[in-house]
Amino acid sequence: MRQSLVVANWKMHGSAASAIALLQELLPVAAAASAEVAVCPPFVHLPLALQVTADSGIGVGGQNCSEHESGAYTGEVAASMLADLGCDWVILGHSERRQYFAESSELVAAKYSSVRATGLTPIVCVGETLQQREQGKAQEVVAGQLQVLMDSPLSASDVIAYEPVWAIGTGQTASPGQAQEMHGFIRQFLREHCGETAEQIRILYGGSVKAANAAELFGQEDIDGGLVGGASLDAAEFAAVINAA
Ligand code: 13P
Repeated sequence: MRQSLVVANWKMHGSAASAIALLQELLPVAAAASAEVAVCPPFVHLPLALQVTADSGIGVGGQNCSEHESGAYTGEVAASMLADLGCDWVILGHSERRQYFAESSELVAAKYSSVRATGLTPIVCVGETLQQREQGKAQEVVAGQLQVLMDSPLSASDVIAYEPVWAIGTGQTASPGQAQEMHGFIRQFLREHCGETAEQIRILYGGSVKAANAAELFGQEDIDGGLVGGASLDAAEFAAVINAA
């Protein structure tokens, strides 16, 4: 039985004050929830997020990390630094990283390897663009993004997030049926490459998840929770998403 997981991706939003206020509102929500909850603020807000959520059960993670362990890489943050700070999670290969920062699947795989050496749990994002979906290539694209991670079997704690690019920040959510179809495909892919571990790996859906659609999405067999952008910046909205999981 996979425990539901709801992860907030704040992207590049928030001041220190707004981050503290939002987290404080989430503390009682997460304490009462059956789902596991994590937040991924911008790097600079990680220390305060760790402080506010200490002993609360809310996990904290980065939105990205370097593929390198250390060195002359100005502006980068190593996975080991996130772990050292006390983070539990890191998002890898978000479509915005792939699109705006030219992250290839091979680079995402290198980051994944660097994360494995730390105690962090990776949340690896996959997903197709609208054009790829319209060309009937959605599954092929997602399979390619997963294939590069398969040098060795994934760990049971690893998380995959299916985020169709056309549904991110657009208000256009994949229908529960469309999302389940891809999640089922990902599960089958994992079964073929990782054996029984596939049943334990959580597959999150991301893309315009909000209070109004969360329950139906999370009710699908292979959707184990959500990676939430915009709606995670509003405490009441995000609380409703957590409670739907
Ligand atoms: P939205 O929920 O704002 O569509 O963003 C989804 C996302 O990219 C989460 O990582």
